[in-house]
Amino acid sequence: MSDRPPALALLAADGLTRHYRVRRPGAMFGRRDLLRAVDGVSFAIRPGQTLGLVGESGCGKSTTAKLVLGLAPATAGTVSFDGAPLPAIGTAAWRDLRRRMQMVFQDPLGALDRRLAVGWQIMEPLLIHRLAGPRDARERARAVMASVGLQPHHFDRYPHELSGGQRQRVVLARALITEPRLLVCDEPISALDVSIQAQVVNLLLDLQEKLGVSYLFISHDLKVVRQVSHDVAVMYLGRVVEQGEADALFRDPVHPYTRALVAAIPSPALGGERRRERIVLSGDPPNPIAVPAGCAFHPRCPWAVADCKAATPALRPMPDGRLVACHRAEATPESRAA
Ligand SMILES: Nc1ncnc2c1ncn2[C@@H]1O[C@H](COP(=O)(O)OP(=O)(O)O)[C@@H](O)[C@H]1O
Ligand SMILES: [Mg+2]
Repeated sequence: MSDRPPALALLAADGLTRHYRVRRPGAMFGRRDLLRAVDGVSFAIRPGQTLGLVGESGCGKSTTAKLVLGLAPATAGTVSFDGAPLPAIGTAAWRDLRRRMQMVFQDPLGALDRRLAVGWQIMEPLLIHRLAGPRDARERARAVMASVGLQPHHFDRYPHELSGGQRQRVVLARALITEPRLLVCDEPISALDVSIQAQVVNLLLDLQEKLGVSYLFISHDLKVVRQVSHDVAVMYLGRVVEQGEADALFRDPVHPYTRALVAAIPSPALGGERRRERIVLSGDPPNPIAVPAGCAFHPRCPWAVADCKAATPALRPMPDGRLVACHRAEATPESRAA
C-alpha cells in the first residue's frame, strides 16, 4: 500500500488502468462504448505474502492479473517488480522476468497440452528459458513434482489420466519449476471438486512457507481468501473500494460493499464473532460500460445519501491504516440507518 516504503514491495501496481472500446450491441456505424475494466488500481505485494483480490464477476480481477504479468498492455499506470518497472511486453527482458512471475489459471485442463505427458510439460519452461539441459530439467521436474505431492509415476501420464486436483498440481509444478517469486493465481480452486479444494489451498500455503513465494490470489470464495491472504483488496467496477490487512477487513469491513460480501460468507466461517447486520446486494448488476456517476456503488447502497450520487469518493486511509472509498466510512451502522 502507498504508505509502505516501496522497497519492501516485490510487486507494486500504481494507477493500473485498462479501458476497452467495445461495440454497442445493435449499434450501426461501428459505434463503440468505453468499457472501464480496470480503472486506477494500486496495490503492493510483499515478498512471501499474499494479496487477495475479490469482487463480483466482471469487476476486473482477471484483467488486473493480466496487467500485472504484462500479458495485456495497460491504458495507464505502472507495474514494478522488485523496484524496477516491468519491461515492455515481448522484449527479452520481459521474457526473462516472466519466469519470476508465473500464472495459475482456473482450468488446469485448458492450461495443459492434452497430447504431451505431464512430466515433459513440467520440464518445458526450463528448456524454453534455457535454464537447464534435458537431463537436469528431468531431475528438477521430478523434484518439483514431489514438492507438490505428485508421485514419480505421474511423470509419464497424460492430463486426461489424472484427477482435477492432480492436474492443478501439475500446473503448479510447471509454474514453480522456474523458481518464480510471484504466482498469480486466478480462481485456482474454482474448477476443482469441493473435496479437493482444501488440499490445494493447503499446498499453496505450504509452498509459500517453504519457498517464500508471493501470491496474487484471486477468488470469489471469501472464506478461502481469508485463509490465505495477508492483505485484501476489494474491487467494484474496476476500482478498489476497500483495501487493507485481511484479518481487520474481514473482522470489521467498512465499505458497504465489503460488508455485503462478508455478510454473505457462510456463518460457520465467522466463528464466534459478533453477528453483523446483513446487507443484501440489490439493484441492477454493475455494468462497466455505464458506471454510475458519483460513487459507483450508490445505486445498490442502503446508506447512500445525496453526496454519494454527486462525487466519487477517494480511496482514503482510516485510523487503522486500511483504505476505504466511501463518503460515509466514518458513520456507524446505527447512524447510517438513521
Ligand atoms: N478483451 C476484452 N475486450 C473487451 N472487454 C473485456 C475484455 N476483457 C475483459 N473485458 C471486460 O472487462 C470487464 C472485467 O473483466 P474481467 O477482468 O474478466 O473481470 P473478472 O475477472 O473480475 O470477472 C468485464 O466487463 C469484461 O467483459
Ligand atoms: Mg476472472
